[in-house]
Amino acid sequence: MYNEIDLDKIDINSEPPTEEPARQYYFMAKCREWVREFEEKHGRRPTACTQTFGCQMNARDSEKLKGILLQAGFEEGDEEADFVLYNTCTVRDNANQKVYGHLGHLQALKKKNPHMKIGLCGCMMQEPEAVEKIRRSYGFVDLIFGTHNIFKLAELFYQCLARKEMVVDVWDGTDQTVEQLPAKRKYSFKSGVNIMYGCDNFCSYCIVPYVRGRERSRRPEEILAEIRRLAADGVKEVMLLGQNVNSYGKKLEEPVSFAELLRQVNEVEGIRRIRFMTSHPKDLSDELIAAMRDCKKVCRHLHLPLQSGSSRILKIMNRRYTKEQYLELTDRIRQAMPDISLTTDIIVGFPGETEEDFAETLDVVRRVRYDSAFTFIYSKRTGTPAAAMEDQVPGEIVKDRFDRLLRLVQKISSEVSMRDAKTVQEVLVESENDHQKGYVSGRLGNNLLVHFPGDVSLIGRIVPVKLVEPKGFYYIGRLASEADDMQDNR
Ligand code: 5AD
Ligand code: SF4
Repeated sequence: MYNEIDLDKIDINSEPPTEEPARQYYFMAKCREWVREFEEKHGRRPTACTQTFGCQMNARDSEKLKGILLQAGFEEGDEEADFVLYNTCTVRDNANQKVYGHLGHLQALKKKNPHMKIGLCGCMMQEPEAVEKIRRSYGFVDLIFGTHNIFKLAELFYQCLARKEMVVDVWDGTDQTVEQLPAKRKYSFKSGVNIMYGCDNFCSYCIVPYVRGRERSRRPEEILAEIRRLAADGVKEVMLLGQNVNSYGKKLEEPVSFAELLRQVNEVEGIRRIRFMTSHPKDLSDELIAAMRDCKKVCRHLHLPLQSGSSRILKIMNRRYTKEQYLELTDRIRQAMPDISLTTDIIVGFPGETEEDFAETLDVVRRVRYDSAFTFIYSKRTGTPAAAMEDQVPGEIVKDRFDRLLRLVQKISSEVSMRDAKTVQEVLVESENDHQKGYVSGRLGNNLLVHFPGDVSLIGRIVPVKLVEPKGFYYIGRLASEADDMQDNR
Protein backbone atom coordinates (compact mmCIF):
# COMPACT_ATOMS: atom_id res chain seq x y z
CA MET A 1 0.00 0.00 0.00
CA TYR A 2 1.30 3.42 -0.99
CA ASN A 3 4.24 1.48 -2.38
CA GLU A 4 3.47 3.14 -5.69
CA ILE A 5 4.94 6.52 -4.61
CA ASP A 6 7.99 7.11 -6.80
CA LEU A 7 10.90 7.94 -4.51
CA ASP A 8 13.15 8.73 -7.45
CA LYS A 9 11.02 11.80 -8.17
CA ILE A 10 11.78 13.31 -4.75
CA ASP A 11 14.41 16.05 -4.70
CA ILE A 12 16.70 14.87 -1.93
CA ASN A 13 18.98 17.88 -2.19
CA SER A 14 16.24 20.25 -1.07
CA GLU A 15 15.30 20.81 2.59
CA PRO A 16 13.18 18.00 4.11
CA PRO A 17 9.43 18.73 4.09
CA THR A 18 7.94 19.49 7.51
CA GLU A 19 4.60 17.75 7.01
CA GLU A 20 3.98 13.99 7.24
CA PRO A 21 4.08 11.58 5.53
CA ALA A 22 5.94 13.60 2.84
CA ARG A 23 8.85 14.04 5.25
CA GLN A 24 9.24 10.29 5.66
CA TYR A 25 9.14 9.65 1.91
CA TYR A 26 11.92 12.22 1.59
CA PHE A 27 14.03 10.27 4.11
CA MET A 28 13.22 6.95 2.44
CA ALA A 29 14.62 8.51 -0.74
CA LYS A 30 17.70 9.67 1.20
CA CYS A 31 18.20 6.16 2.59
CA ARG A 32 17.83 4.77 -0.93
CA GLU A 33 20.67 6.98 -2.07
CA TRP A 34 22.80 5.49 0.71
CA VAL A 35 21.68 1.99 -0.32
CA ARG A 36 22.99 2.68 -3.84
CA GLU A 37 26.36 3.76 -2.50
CA PHE A 38 26.48 0.66 -0.30
CA GLU A 39 25.71 -1.51 -3.31
CA GLU A 40 28.49 0.07 -5.37
CA LYS A 41 30.97 -0.50 -2.57
CA HIS A 42 29.97 -4.02 -1.51
CA GLY A 43 28.50 -5.45 -4.70
CA ARG A 44 25.22 -6.23 -2.94
CA ARG A 45 22.34 -4.39 -1.36
CA PRO A 46 22.24 -4.04 2.46
CA THR A 47 19.92 -6.44 4.27
CA ALA A 48 17.45 -5.69 7.05
CA CYS A 49 15.67 -7.92 9.50
CA THR A 50 12.77 -7.00 11.79
CA GLN A 51 11.93 -9.30 14.67
CA THR A 52 8.68 -9.01 16.56
CA PHE A 53 8.06 -9.72 20.22
CA GLY A 54 4.57 -9.60 21.70
CA CYS A 55 1.08 -9.11 20.40
CA GLN A 56 -0.79 -8.67 17.12
CA MET A 57 -0.42 -4.89 17.39
CA ASN A 58 3.33 -5.26 17.35
CA ALA A 59 3.11 -7.73 14.48
CA ARG A 60 1.19 -5.14 12.47
CA ASP A 61 3.65 -2.39 13.45
CA SER A 62 6.49 -4.61 12.23
CA GLU A 63 4.81 -4.93 8.83
CA LYS A 64 4.91 -1.14 8.62
CA LEU A 65 8.57 -1.03 9.71
CA LYS A 66 9.47 -3.64 7.13
CA GLY A 67 7.51 -1.73 4.47
CA ILE A 68 9.59 1.37 5.13
CA LEU A 69 12.87 -0.55 5.00
CA LEU A 70 12.01 -2.30 1.73
CA GLN A 71 10.94 1.03 0.22
CA ALA A 72 14.30 2.45 1.25
CA GLY A 73 15.97 -0.30 -0.79
CA PHE A 74 16.99 -2.86 1.80
CA GLU A 75 16.73 -6.55 1.02
CA GLU A 76 15.14 -8.89 3.55
CA GLY A 77 17.74 -10.62 5.69
CA ASP A 78 18.06 -12.76 8.81
CA GLU A 79 19.61 -12.11 12.24
CA GLU A 80 22.97 -11.52 10.57
CA ALA A 81 21.55 -8.66 8.48
CA ASP A 82 23.19 -5.25 8.12
CA PHE A 83 20.30 -3.69 10.05
CA VAL A 84 18.53 -5.69 12.75
CA LEU A 85 15.48 -4.09 14.33
CA TYR A 86 13.69 -5.56 17.34
CA ASN A 87 10.11 -4.49 17.90
CA THR A 88 9.88 -5.15 21.64
CA CYS A 89 7.14 -5.97 24.15
CA THR A 90 7.03 -5.29 27.88
CA VAL A 91 3.67 -6.64 29.00
CA ARG A 92 5.41 -9.21 31.22
CA ASP A 93 8.98 -9.24 32.45
CA ASN A 94 9.92 -12.37 30.49
CA ALA A 95 9.35 -10.36 27.28
CA ASN A 96 12.04 -7.90 28.44
CA GLN A 97 14.40 -10.70 29.45
CA LYS A 98 14.10 -12.24 26.00
CA VAL A 99 15.24 -8.98 24.42
CA TYR A 100 18.27 -8.74 26.72
CA GLY A 101 19.12 -12.36 25.88
CA HIS A 102 18.98 -11.69 22.15
CA LEU A 103 21.06 -8.53 22.52
CA GLY A 104 23.96 -10.58 23.88
CA HIS A 105 23.88 -12.66 20.73
CA LEU A 106 23.69 -9.55 18.51
CA GLN A 107 26.78 -8.12 20.16
CA ALA A 108 28.78 -11.14 18.99
CA LEU A 109 27.42 -10.72 15.45
CA LYS A 110 28.29 -7.05 15.42
CA LYS A 111 31.89 -7.87 16.28
CA LYS A 112 32.04 -9.95 13.10
CA ASN A 113 30.27 -7.28 10.99
CA PRO A 114 31.21 -3.83 12.31
CA HIS A 115 28.93 -2.14 9.73
CA MET A 116 25.94 -3.79 11.36
CA LYS A 117 23.32 -1.42 12.81
CA ILE A 118 21.08 -2.51 15.66
CA GLY A 119 17.76 -0.83 16.43
CA LEU A 120 15.22 -1.32 19.21
CA CYS A 121 11.69 0.03 19.18
CA GLY A 122 8.24 -0.71 20.59
CA CYS A 123 6.71 -0.94 24.06
CA MET A 124 9.80 -1.75 26.11
CA MET A 125 11.54 1.38 24.81
CA GLN A 126 8.78 3.52 26.35
CA GLU A 127 10.15 2.58 29.77
CA PRO A 128 12.90 4.96 30.87
CA GLU A 129 14.48 2.23 33.07
CA ALA A 130 14.88 -0.07 30.07
CA VAL A 131 16.43 2.66 27.92
CA GLU A 132 18.78 3.55 30.78
CA LYS A 133 19.88 -0.07 31.14
CA ILE A 134 20.53 -0.34 27.39
CA ARG A 135 22.58 2.85 27.40
CA ARG A 136 24.60 1.54 30.34
CA SER A 137 25.10 -2.11 29.42
CA TYR A 138 24.39 -2.43 25.69
CA GLY A 139 26.18 0.61 24.26
CA PHE A 140 26.59 -1.11 20.88
CA VAL A 141 22.88 -0.48 20.09
CA ASP A 142 22.61 2.25 17.42
CA LEU A 143 18.99 3.31 17.50
CA ILE A 144 16.14 3.42 20.01
CA PHE A 145 12.62 4.69 19.41
CA GLY A 146 9.23 4.01 20.96
CA THR A 147 5.64 3.18 20.03
CA HIS A 148 4.46 6.66 19.08
CA ASN A 149 6.95 7.42 16.31
CA ILE A 150 7.48 4.18 14.41
CA PHE A 151 6.51 6.10 11.27
CA LYS A 152 9.85 7.97 11.63
CA LEU A 153 12.02 4.91 10.99
CA ALA A 154 13.52 6.21 7.72
CA GLU A 155 14.42 9.58 9.24
CA LEU A 156 15.92 7.99 12.34
CA PHE A 157 17.90 5.41 10.40
CA TYR A 158 19.29 8.20 8.23
CA GLN A 159 20.36 10.07 11.38
CA CYS A 160 22.04 6.92 12.59
CA LEU A 161 24.19 6.69 9.45
CA ALA A 162 25.75 10.05 10.16
CA ARG A 163 26.34 9.53 13.89
CA LYS A 164 28.57 7.34 16.00
CA GLU A 165 26.52 7.72 19.21
CA MET A 166 23.24 5.99 19.93
CA VAL A 167 20.23 7.81 18.44
CA VAL A 168 17.37 7.85 20.97
CA ASP A 169 13.96 9.29 20.13
CA VAL A 170 11.17 8.21 22.50
CA TRP A 171 7.97 10.26 22.75
CA ASP A 172 5.82 10.39 25.89
CA GLY A 173 2.62 10.41 23.90
CA THR A 174 1.02 11.69 20.72
CA ASP A 175 -2.26 12.65 19.16
CA GLN A 176 -0.76 12.22 15.72
CA THR A 177 -1.24 9.04 13.69
CA VAL A 178 0.69 8.83 10.45
CA GLU A 179 -0.88 6.17 8.30
CA GLN A 180 -0.04 6.68 4.64
CA LEU A 181 3.19 4.75 4.68
CA PRO A 182 4.22 1.49 3.05
CA ALA A 183 3.61 -1.84 4.75
CA LYS A 184 4.95 -5.28 3.89
CA ARG A 185 2.34 -7.84 4.84
CA LYS A 186 3.51 -11.18 6.17
CA TYR A 187 0.57 -12.89 4.45
CA SER A 188 -0.83 -11.83 1.06
CA PHE A 189 -4.35 -12.98 1.96
CA LYS A 190 -4.87 -11.66 5.49
CA SER A 191 -3.99 -8.49 7.34
CA GLY A 192 -4.32 -6.70 10.64
CA VAL A 193 -5.94 -3.27 10.49
CA ASN A 194 -5.45 -0.81 13.34
CA ILE A 195 -8.75 0.75 14.24
CA MET A 196 -7.51 2.46 17.40
CA TYR A 197 -4.35 2.98 19.38
CA GLY A 198 -3.65 3.11 23.12
CA CYS A 199 -5.74 2.21 26.14
CA ASP A 200 -7.53 4.24 28.82
CA ASN A 201 -8.52 1.41 31.13
CA PHE A 202 -5.62 1.28 33.54
CA CYS A 203 -6.16 -2.26 34.78
CA SER A 204 -3.99 -2.14 37.87
CA TYR A 205 -1.47 -4.81 36.72
CA CYS A 206 -1.06 -3.56 33.16
CA ILE A 207 1.67 -1.42 31.68
CA VAL A 208 0.01 -0.96 28.28
CA PRO A 209 -1.68 2.41 29.01
CA TYR A 210 1.73 3.78 30.04
CA VAL A 211 3.62 2.58 26.98
CA ARG A 212 0.92 2.88 24.30
CA GLY A 213 -0.65 6.11 25.53
CA ARG A 214 -4.25 7.34 25.55
CA GLU A 215 -6.96 5.78 23.44
CA ARG A 216 -7.27 7.24 19.92
CA SER A 217 -9.69 5.89 17.31
CA ARG A 218 -9.16 6.20 13.58
CA ARG A 219 -12.06 7.63 11.61
CA PRO A 220 -14.28 4.96 10.02
CA GLU A 221 -13.79 6.38 6.49
CA GLU A 222 -10.05 5.93 6.85
CA ILE A 223 -10.40 2.37 8.13
CA LEU A 224 -12.86 1.42 5.40
CA ALA A 225 -10.64 2.95 2.71
CA GLU A 226 -7.71 0.89 3.99
CA ILE A 227 -9.79 -2.29 4.02
CA ARG A 228 -11.04 -1.63 0.47
CA ARG A 229 -7.45 -1.22 -0.69
CA LEU A 230 -6.51 -4.45 1.06
CA ALA A 231 -9.42 -6.28 -0.57
CA ALA A 232 -8.35 -4.96 -3.98
CA ASP A 233 -4.91 -6.34 -3.20
CA GLY A 234 -6.27 -9.86 -2.60
CA VAL A 235 -6.79 -9.80 1.16
CA LYS A 236 -9.66 -12.06 2.26
CA GLU A 237 -9.43 -11.81 6.03
CA VAL A 238 -8.98 -8.72 8.19
CA MET A 239 -8.29 -8.57 11.90
CA LEU A 240 -9.47 -5.27 13.39
CA LEU A 241 -6.94 -4.34 16.05
CA GLY A 242 -7.24 -2.31 19.24
CA GLN A 243 -6.50 -2.80 22.95
CA ASN A 244 -10.19 -2.42 23.68
CA VAL A 245 -12.18 -2.47 20.44
CA ASN A 246 -15.48 -2.28 22.32
CA SER A 247 -14.84 1.35 23.19
CA TYR A 248 -13.98 2.19 19.57
CA GLY A 249 -15.22 5.52 18.25
CA LYS A 250 -16.71 6.89 21.46
CA LYS A 251 -14.39 9.89 21.46
CA LEU A 252 -14.52 10.68 17.73
CA GLU A 253 -15.93 14.06 16.69
CA GLU A 254 -18.79 12.13 15.12
CA PRO A 255 -19.02 9.11 17.43
CA VAL A 256 -19.43 5.69 15.81
CA SER A 257 -19.83 2.45 17.76
CA PHE A 258 -17.72 -0.62 17.12
CA ALA A 259 -20.91 -2.47 16.18
CA GLU A 260 -21.61 0.10 13.45
CA LEU A 261 -18.04 -0.15 12.19
CA LEU A 262 -18.34 -3.94 12.04
CA ARG A 263 -21.52 -3.68 9.96
CA GLN A 264 -19.75 -1.32 7.55
CA VAL A 265 -16.69 -3.55 7.22
CA ASN A 266 -19.05 -6.46 6.56
CA GLU A 267 -20.17 -4.64 3.39
CA VAL A 268 -16.69 -4.42 1.85
CA GLU A 269 -16.61 -6.57 -1.24
CA GLY A 270 -13.84 -9.14 -1.46
CA ILE A 271 -13.39 -9.44 2.30
CA ARG A 272 -14.64 -12.88 3.36
CA ARG A 273 -13.71 -13.02 7.03
CA ILE A 274 -13.59 -10.41 9.79
CA ARG A 275 -11.92 -10.92 13.14
CA PHE A 276 -11.21 -8.48 15.93
CA MET A 277 -9.06 -8.22 19.03
CA THR A 278 -9.37 -7.43 21.98
CA SER A 279 -12.75 -7.07 23.65
CA HIS A 280 -13.13 -5.76 27.18
CA PRO A 281 -16.11 -7.43 28.91
CA LYS A 282 -17.17 -4.18 30.58
CA ASP A 283 -17.82 -2.51 27.19
CA LEU A 284 -19.27 -5.39 25.22
CA SER A 285 -22.76 -4.21 24.25
CA ASP A 286 -25.89 -6.02 23.11
CA GLU A 287 -25.57 -3.92 19.97
CA LEU A 288 -22.24 -5.63 19.26
CA ILE A 289 -23.65 -9.10 19.94
CA ALA A 290 -26.44 -8.36 17.44
CA ALA A 291 -23.94 -7.07 14.86
CA MET A 292 -21.81 -10.20 15.24
CA ARG A 293 -24.87 -12.38 14.89
CA ASP A 294 -26.09 -10.53 11.77
CA CYS A 295 -22.81 -10.08 9.90
CA LYS A 296 -22.09 -13.23 7.92
CA LYS A 297 -18.41 -12.42 7.51
CA VAL A 298 -17.67 -11.95 11.20
CA CYS A 299 -15.99 -15.12 12.47
CA ARG A 300 -17.75 -17.04 15.19
CA HIS A 301 -14.95 -16.43 17.63
CA LEU A 302 -14.65 -14.02 20.53
CA HIS A 303 -11.61 -13.43 22.66
CA LEU A 304 -12.95 -12.19 25.98
CA PRO A 305 -10.24 -11.78 28.64
CA LEU A 306 -11.43 -12.86 32.07
CA GLN A 307 -8.18 -12.17 34.01
CA SER A 308 -9.69 -13.53 37.25
CA GLY A 309 -12.90 -15.26 38.30
CA SER A 310 -12.95 -13.61 41.71
CA SER A 311 -15.10 -10.47 41.96
CA ARG A 312 -12.90 -9.30 44.81
CA ILE A 313 -9.71 -9.56 42.74
CA LEU A 314 -11.43 -8.12 39.66
CA LYS A 315 -12.23 -5.04 41.70
CA ILE A 316 -8.61 -4.60 42.76
CA MET A 317 -7.57 -5.22 39.16
CA ASN A 318 -9.86 -2.30 38.20
CA ARG A 319 -11.62 -4.46 35.60
CA ARG A 320 -15.04 -2.99 36.39
CA TYR A 321 -17.12 -6.19 36.10
CA THR A 322 -17.93 -8.97 38.53
CA LYS A 323 -17.79 -12.73 38.12
CA GLU A 324 -21.59 -12.79 37.82
CA GLN A 325 -21.64 -10.04 35.18
CA TYR A 326 -19.00 -11.88 33.14
CA LEU A 327 -20.93 -15.16 33.29
CA GLU A 328 -24.16 -13.42 32.40
CA LEU A 329 -22.43 -11.80 29.42
CA THR A 330 -21.12 -15.12 28.09
CA ASP A 331 -24.65 -16.55 28.46
CA ARG A 332 -26.08 -13.71 26.37
CA ILE A 333 -23.39 -14.20 23.72
CA ARG A 334 -24.06 -17.93 23.54
CA GLN A 335 -27.80 -17.41 23.36
CA ALA A 336 -27.32 -15.22 20.29
CA MET A 337 -24.62 -17.45 18.74
CA PRO A 338 -24.71 -21.00 20.15
CA ASP A 339 -21.79 -22.10 17.95
CA ILE A 340 -19.42 -19.32 19.02
CA SER A 341 -15.94 -20.20 20.15
CA LEU A 342 -14.85 -18.33 23.27
CA THR A 343 -11.22 -17.80 24.25
CA THR A 344 -9.72 -15.85 27.10
CA ASP A 345 -6.72 -14.52 29.04
CA ILE A 346 -6.24 -15.39 32.72
CA ILE A 347 -3.69 -14.09 35.20
CA VAL A 348 -2.65 -16.28 38.14
CA GLY A 349 -1.06 -14.91 41.29
CA PHE A 350 -2.26 -11.31 41.26
CA PRO A 351 -1.30 -9.67 44.61
CA GLY A 352 -3.53 -10.87 47.42
CA GLU A 353 -5.03 -13.77 45.44
CA THR A 354 -6.13 -16.44 47.94
CA GLU A 355 -6.95 -20.10 47.31
CA GLU A 356 -10.64 -19.10 47.47
CA ASP A 357 -10.12 -16.42 44.80
CA PHE A 358 -8.30 -18.93 42.63
CA ALA A 359 -11.14 -21.45 43.09
CA GLU A 360 -13.49 -18.79 41.63
CA THR A 361 -11.28 -18.61 38.54
CA LEU A 362 -11.41 -22.39 38.14
CA ASP A 363 -15.18 -22.20 38.57
CA VAL A 364 -15.57 -19.73 35.71
CA VAL A 365 -13.33 -21.87 33.49
CA ARG A 366 -15.52 -24.91 34.25
CA ARG A 367 -18.71 -23.01 33.55
CA VAL A 368 -17.71 -21.15 30.39
CA ARG A 369 -15.73 -24.05 28.91
CA TYR A 370 -13.35 -22.00 26.77
CA ASP A 371 -12.11 -23.25 23.42
CA SER A 372 -8.72 -22.12 24.59
CA ALA A 373 -7.17 -19.82 27.17
CA PHE A 374 -3.90 -17.98 27.46
CA THR A 375 -2.75 -18.34 31.04
CA PHE A 376 -0.17 -16.00 32.54
CA ILE A 377 1.72 -15.81 35.78
CA TYR A 378 1.30 -12.33 37.23
CA SER A 379 4.33 -10.20 36.44
CA LYS A 380 5.13 -7.11 38.46
CA ARG A 381 5.40 -4.05 36.19
CA THR A 382 7.13 -1.03 37.65
CA GLY A 383 4.87 2.02 37.73
CA THR A 384 1.57 0.11 37.81
CA PRO A 385 -0.59 0.28 40.97
CA ALA A 386 -0.36 -3.51 41.49
CA ALA A 387 3.44 -3.37 41.69
CA ALA A 388 3.14 -1.35 44.90
CA MET A 389 0.65 -3.76 46.52
CA GLU A 390 2.07 -5.48 49.53
CA ASP A 391 0.73 -9.02 49.53
CA GLN A 392 2.53 -10.41 46.46
CA VAL A 393 1.85 -14.18 46.27
CA PRO A 394 4.88 -16.47 46.86
CA GLY A 395 6.33 -18.02 43.70
CA GLU A 396 5.75 -21.68 44.59
CA ILE A 397 2.05 -21.09 45.34
CA VAL A 398 1.60 -19.26 42.04
CA LYS A 399 3.36 -22.05 40.15
CA ASP A 400 1.12 -24.69 41.73
CA ARG A 401 -2.04 -22.71 40.84
CA PHE A 402 -0.76 -22.06 37.34
CA ASP A 403 -0.20 -25.79 36.73
CA ARG A 404 -3.66 -26.67 38.05
CA LEU A 405 -5.29 -24.01 35.87
CA LEU A 406 -3.37 -25.09 32.79
CA ARG A 407 -4.40 -28.74 33.27
CA LEU A 408 -8.07 -27.77 33.56
CA VAL A 409 -7.96 -25.38 30.60
CA GLN A 410 -6.27 -27.99 28.40
CA LYS A 411 -8.67 -30.76 29.38
CA ILE A 412 -11.72 -28.64 28.60
CA SER A 413 -10.20 -27.20 25.47
CA SER A 414 -9.44 -30.62 23.99
CA GLU A 415 -13.06 -31.64 24.64
CA VAL A 416 -14.72 -28.45 23.40
CA SER A 417 -12.61 -27.48 20.45
CA MET A 418 -13.13 -30.81 18.69
CA ARG A 419 -16.90 -30.37 18.47
CA ASP A 420 -16.79 -29.91 14.68
CA ALA A 421 -15.21 -33.34 14.06
CA LYS A 422 -16.56 -35.12 10.97
CA THR A 423 -18.24 -31.96 9.62
CA VAL A 424 -17.28 -29.93 6.56
CA GLN A 425 -16.06 -26.41 7.31
CA GLU A 426 -14.61 -23.52 5.36
CA VAL A 427 -10.86 -23.23 5.77
CA LEU A 428 -8.59 -20.35 4.79
CA VAL A 429 -5.42 -22.07 3.63
CA GLU A 430 -2.37 -20.32 5.07
CA SER A 431 0.80 -22.27 4.36
CA GLU A 432 2.49 -25.48 3.39
CA ASN A 433 2.75 -27.84 6.34
CA ASP A 434 6.26 -27.74 7.84
CA HIS A 435 6.17 -31.28 9.16
CA GLN A 436 4.33 -33.32 6.58
CA LYS A 437 5.21 -33.09 2.91
CA GLY A 438 2.22 -32.74 0.59
CA TYR A 439 0.08 -31.19 3.33
CA VAL A 440 -1.13 -27.62 3.76
CA SER A 441 -2.41 -25.88 6.90
CA GLY A 442 -5.32 -23.52 7.29
CA ARG A 443 -7.73 -22.08 9.82
CA LEU A 444 -11.38 -22.53 10.56
CA GLY A 445 -13.55 -19.50 11.27
CA ASN A 446 -13.06 -20.21 14.98
CA ASN A 447 -9.29 -20.01 14.46
CA LEU A 448 -8.49 -23.72 14.93
CA LEU A 449 -5.81 -25.21 12.72
CA VAL A 450 -6.49 -27.93 10.15
CA HIS A 451 -3.84 -29.85 8.23
CA PHE A 452 -4.84 -31.64 5.05
CA PRO A 453 -3.32 -33.01 1.83
CA GLY A 454 -2.95 -30.25 -0.74
CA ASP A 455 -0.46 -28.11 -2.62
CA VAL A 456 0.70 -24.51 -2.60
CA SER A 457 -1.88 -23.47 -5.18
CA LEU A 458 -4.45 -23.60 -2.36
CA ILE A 459 -2.66 -20.99 -0.24
CA GLY A 460 -4.83 -17.89 0.23
CA ARG A 461 -8.02 -19.68 -0.85
CA ILE A 462 -11.05 -20.50 1.26
CA VAL A 463 -11.97 -24.13 0.63
CA PRO A 464 -14.36 -26.68 2.15
CA VAL A 465 -12.55 -29.27 4.24
CA LYS A 466 -13.91 -32.37 5.92
CA LEU A 467 -12.53 -32.56 9.47
CA VAL A 468 -11.71 -36.23 9.48
CA GLU A 469 -9.55 -36.71 12.55
CA PRO A 470 -9.75 -34.62 15.75
CA LYS A 471 -6.30 -34.34 17.33
CA GLY A 472 -7.08 -32.47 20.54
CA PHE A 473 -6.00 -29.00 19.48
CA TYR A 474 -6.11 -29.32 15.69
CA TYR A 475 -7.68 -31.46 12.99
CA ILE A 476 -6.45 -33.61 10.17
CA GLY A 477 -8.80 -33.15 7.23
CA ARG A 478 -9.27 -33.67 3.53
CA LEU A 479 -10.65 -31.41 0.82
CA ALA A 480 -14.41 -31.95 0.80
CA SER A 481 -16.06 -33.45 -2.23
CA GLU A 482 -19.51 -32.61 -3.55
CA ALA A 483 -20.87 -35.56 -1.65
CA ASP A 484 -19.88 -34.05 1.71
CA ASP A 485 -22.41 -31.77 3.34
CA MET A 486 -21.39 -28.13 3.75
CA GLN A 487 -22.23 -26.61 7.12
CA ASP A 488 -23.23 -23.00 7.56
CA ASN A 489 -20.16 -21.87 9.41
CA ARG A 490 -17.79 -18.96 9.31
N1 5AD B 1 1.24 -9.92 34.38
C1 5AD B 1 0.73 -11.00 33.77
N2 5AD B 1 -0.07 -10.93 32.71
C2 5AD B 1 -0.40 -9.71 32.23
N3 5AD B 1 -1.16 -9.33 31.19
C3 5AD B 1 -1.14 -7.99 31.13
N4 5AD B 1 -0.37 -7.48 32.11
C4 5AD B 1 0.10 -8.55 32.81
C5 5AD B 1 0.94 -8.67 33.95
N5 5AD B 1 1.46 -7.62 34.56
C6 5AD B 1 -1.91 -10.26 30.37
C7 5AD B 1 -3.41 -10.02 30.44
C8 5AD B 1 -3.73 -9.44 29.10
C9 5AD B 1 -2.70 -10.11 28.23
C10 5AD B 1 -2.45 -9.45 26.93
O1 5AD B 1 -1.53 -10.08 29.02
O2 5AD B 1 -4.05 -11.26 30.62
O3 5AD B 1 -5.05 -9.73 28.68
FE1 SF4 C 1 -4.01 -3.56 29.75
FE2 SF4 C 1 -6.52 -3.53 30.72
FE3 SF4 C 1 -5.83 -1.89 28.66
FE4 SF4 C 1 -6.02 -4.55 28.26
S1 SF4 C 1 -7.71 -3.18 28.86
S2 SF4 C 1 -4.35 -3.18 27.55
S3 SF4 C 1 -5.29 -5.40 30.21
S4 SF4 C 1 -5.03 -1.82 30.75
